[in-house]
This record gives sequence, structure tokens and C-alpha cells, in this order.
Amino acid sequence: MKLLLFFLLLVVSCHGDSKPDSPNFTSIFSFGDSFADTGNLVVLATPVLKDIWIDMNPYGETFFHHPTGRCSDGRLVLDFLAQNFSLPLVPPYLVHNSSFGQGANFAVAGATALDFAFFVNNNLSNPFMFNGSLSVQLGWFADLKPSLCKSCEECQEYFSTSLFIVGEFGANDYAFMIFGGKTLEQVYGYVPMVIQKISAAAESLIKQGAKTVVVPGIWPDGCTPANLAQNTSRPKEDYEPETGCLKDLNDLSRYHNSELLKAVKQLQHNHLDVRLIFADYYRPILDFVRTPHRFGFIDTPLRVCCGNATNQYNVNLSEVCAMPGVGSCENPLEYVNWDGVHLTEAAYHHIAEGWLNGTYAEPPILSGVDN
Ligand SMILES: *[C@@H]1O[C@H](CO)[C@@H](O)[C@H](O)[C@H]1NC(C)=O
Ligand SMILES: *[C@@H]1O[C@H](CO)[C@@H](O)[C@H](O)[C@H]1NC(C)=O
Ligand SMILES: *[C@@H]1O[C@H](CO)[C@@H](O)[C@H](O)[C@H]1NC(C)=O
Ligand SMILES: *[C@@H]1O[C@H](CO)[C@@H](O)[C@H](O)[C@H]1NC(C)=O
Ligand SMILES: *[C@@H]1O[C@H](CO)[C@@H](O)[C@H](O)[C@H]1NC(C)=O
Ligand SMILES: *[C@@H]1O[C@H](CO)[C@@H](O)[C@H](O)[C@H]1NC(C)=O
Ligand SMILES: *[C@@H]1O[C@H](CO)[C@@H](O)[C@H](O)[C@H]1NC(C)=O
Ligand SMILES: *[C@@H]1O[C@H](CO)[C@@H](O)[C@H](O)[C@H]1NC(C)=O
Ligand SMILES: *[C@@H]1O[C@H](CO)[C@@H](O)[C@H](O)[C@H]1NC(C)=O
Repeated sequence: MKLLLFFLLLVVSCHGDSKPDSPNFTSIFSFGDSFADTGNLVVLATPVLKDIWIDMNPYGETFFHHPTGRCSDGRLVLDFLAQNFSLPLVPPYLVHNSSFGQGANFAVAGATALDFAFFVNNNLSNPFMFNGSLSVQLGWFADLKPSLCKSCEECQEYFSTSLFIVGEFGANDYAFMIFGGKTLEQVYGYVPMVIQKISAAAESLIKQGAKTVVVPGIWPDGCTPANLAQNTSRPKEDYEPETGCLKDLNDLSRYHNSELLKAVKQLQHNHLDVRLIFADYYRPILDFVRTPHRFGFIDTPLRVCCGNATNQYNVNLSEVCAMPGVGSCENPLEYVNWDGVHLTEAAYHHIAEGWLNGTYAEPPILSGVDN
């Protein structure tokens, strides 16, 4: 009895006492896909692929002036968050080149929430898929941990002032399913599995001491120029009149996001000493497309900066950004989309601001800050 009580006390004392009220983060740990990858895919793909376009010019041109492995012309949301907290840009975990004391980025472009094995077993894999799914990223975090903190208490203390970001995940799961021939109706059936995977990852981090966990939803996939460019002779009623985006894919994204929001609320309910934040990619991108001038974007917001195609989206799937002869636009600041799938630094900047100030996150990442 005494032993049991002792054990319970240990467990209890290993949980933080109260909700953090001032997010003066001392480190950032990020999990995700190409919207957050700052260099991991390039490390994974280098021994396998001959040409890695995201590692070539003009990727990175706006801010870094050279490719960094980011799928953009410059900084991602994650970079803007790090800068806002005066932290170094979060180093990619697979580039064993820096200290991870102030955070590590485990995100891999193309990563899925479901395990790689799921796609292999269901005949949905393709040569461009790498084994960097959410559970693999959690494994890397577990591998890194002993270098950051030793005891359970020490780790709880360490992570109590860290910002954890779990996502975006899901968009690639659905894309690979559709690419592999699943109907949209079948894809809807997998949404609960995907949500469960993301939610379990957040919960695992909470058990390890995370006190602030941001869970981003997916982007409006019907507004992805690469999807729009695939078939430019679809009937008018397939498109949302207000945006020109594809209805069916945006419906799927909204369904995922509403289910994810429910899961995040449930986690918040179960962990009152933790701050859980649902962060939105969907609403900002819709805002950019509906009212581009409000953000300084051109009035054809679905047209991409880096491409060379004869269609209105400037996307040719056989001639993508950074391939020979495919360069970028004059002024990337005026574009929402960079390469057909990923956003420009300018777009990511607006989204980061909205996550911080609450326009695009609930609650805002900065809520509770005194200054
Ligand atoms: C935030 O943390 C840094 C060190 O990590 C410290 O120098 C600074 O004073 C803190 N700011 C506030 C407002 O607590
Ligand atoms: C952090 O973001 C907030 C909200 O957008 C902004 O007001 C503030 O100036 C930013 N701080 C830094 C240091 O970038
Ligand atoms: C690794 O570190 C070196 C020296 O600090 C730096 O020049 C190089 O760019 C880094 N590599 C990556 C991939 O960040
Ligand atoms: C993916 O990587 C993990 C961790 O390294 C490994 O356990 C798993 O077997 C791999 N999956 C496949 C399908 O190769
Ligand atoms: C797997 O998919 C490929 C192409 O999508 C198809 O040719 C093949 O027959 C499928 N195999 C099985 C076992 O379903
Ligand atoms: C494009 O969409 C139209 C209308 O739905 C369809 O008839 C046509 O087969 C599609 N073309 C391709 C290449 O998928
Ligand atoms: C895409 O590129 C191919 C050659 O790689 C070309 O034949 C085709 O016309 C291009 N399509 C568009 C829409 O630009
Ligand atoms: C686009 O492609 C055409 C035809 O291949 C080529 O002449 C032109 O230089 C390319 N323009 C850019 C900006 O890549
Ligand atoms: C918050 O950020 C969004 C996105 O950049 C911006 O449109 C909005 O004006 C900001 N709101 C405040 C109160 O700063």
C-alpha cells in the first residue's frame, strides 16, 4: 500500500503543477511535413534520388539566398515563430550539425500521420515516399531526449518551457491515398485513423512533459494549384464560385479540420494543466484567395510564383520549380503559392502572425504574455 502510494506520488510529482501563463519559450520541438521541414528530407533523399529539386535554386532565394531544404523561397511559419521568441531557427534533426538544446525539427517533407507500413501494405506507396512518418519522428525525439535531460523530473522541467508543434499532418496521407486510386468516399473513411494518430502523438508528448502544444490543421487542398492544374476542363460546378478552388477537396480538408478540432478540445479537457492550441492553415489561405489585395498579393492568387506553364495556375506537373528552365517570378512577396504546393515566405509570414495574435489560432500562441 505504502509502495503504491509512493509510486503514485512519484507519478504525480512528475506532472507540472499549473498551466504556464507566460510563453517565454526556451526551446521549440517541431513535427510535421513539407510545411515545416527545414532540411530533413534532403538528408533522407540524398542517397536515393538523383535530383532533389527543393535543394536547388531558386528555393530559398528570398531570405537565405540559397536552398536550405525548405519547400519555399524563404522562411516557414516555424521560422517566424522561432524568431518571435528570439530563438535560433529550429535546426533539422537529421543534420547532425548543431546543438538541439533550444529545440529540434523532426518534420520531413511528404511525411504522413499514418505509418509508412500502412501505405506499403495497402499498395499505396510510391518511390517518392520516405519512411519519416509521425511515429518515426516521435522515435527520433525519444533518441534525442537523453542528451537534453536525464530523469523524468528533469525532462518534465525541461519541456515545460518548450513549444511543441505537432503538424500539419494528414494532407499527405490523403494525397497518397487519392494518388493510389482510392475514391474520396474511401478517403473519408480513413480520417478518424489519421486524427487518432495525431491526437495520440500530442498526448504522448504531454505525458513526457509538454505544457504548450500547437496542433495545426491541414490546408484547403482544393486551393492547391497543383491539384487545380491537373485537369483544367472540369465543369464549372466543381469549383467554389468565390475562390475558384475545388469544392470536393476543400470539403475533405474542412472535415479533417473539424474532426481534429474536436480531438484537440478533448485533449484540452483531459489535460487542464496544458495549453493546447489549434492552429489554422485553412482560413488564412482562404482569406488570401478571397481578398488577396488585403495582404499585398496579386489579384490572381492561385497563380504560382515558380513555374513555367501555359495554364492560368502556372503549374506544369512535368516541369516543376527548379527544373531546368523553370524559374521564379519577379516579386515573390506578391504571391501566395511558391511552387504549386507550398507557400511563399510572404504567405507563411501572415499565417505565423495570425497564429501568434489569435486571428488564425485558438487560443493565440501569445495569449497570457504580459508584454
Ligand atoms: C525569457 O527567457 C530569457 C532566457 O531564456 C530571459 O533572458 C528573459 O528574461 C525571459 N523574459 C521574461 C519576460 O521572462
Ligand atoms: C511577435 O509577434 C507579435 C504578434 O504578431 C508581434 O506583435 C511582435 O512584434 C512579434 N515580436 C517579435 C520579436 O517578432
Ligand atoms: C553545418 O555547419 C557548418 C559550419 O557551421 C555550416 O557551414 C553548414 O552550412 C551547416 N550545414 C547545414 C546543412 O546546415
Ligand atoms: C520505418 O522506420 C522505422 C524506424 O526506423 C522502422 O521501425 C520501420 O520498420 C520502418 N518501416 C518500414 C515500412 O520500412
Ligand atoms: C498495386 O498498384 C499498382 C499500381 O497502382 C497495380 O498495378 C497493382 O496491380 C496493385 N497491386 C495490388 C496487389 O493490388
Ligand atoms: C477532366 O474532367 C472532365 C470533367 O469531369 C473529364 O471528363 C475528363 O476526363 C478529365 N480529364 C482528365 C485528364 O482527367
Ligand atoms: C508542360 O510541359 C510539357 C513538356 O514538358 C509540354 O508539352 C506541355 O505543353 C506543358 N503544359 C503546360 C500546361 O504548360
Ligand atoms: C518557359 O519555357 C519556355 C519553353 O520551354 C522557355 O522558352 C522559357 O524560357 C521558359 N521561361 C521561364 C521563365 O522559365
Ligand atoms: C493578426 O495577424 C493577421 C495575419 O497577419 C493580421 O491580418 C491581423 O491584422 C493581425 N491582428 C492584429 C490585432 O494584430
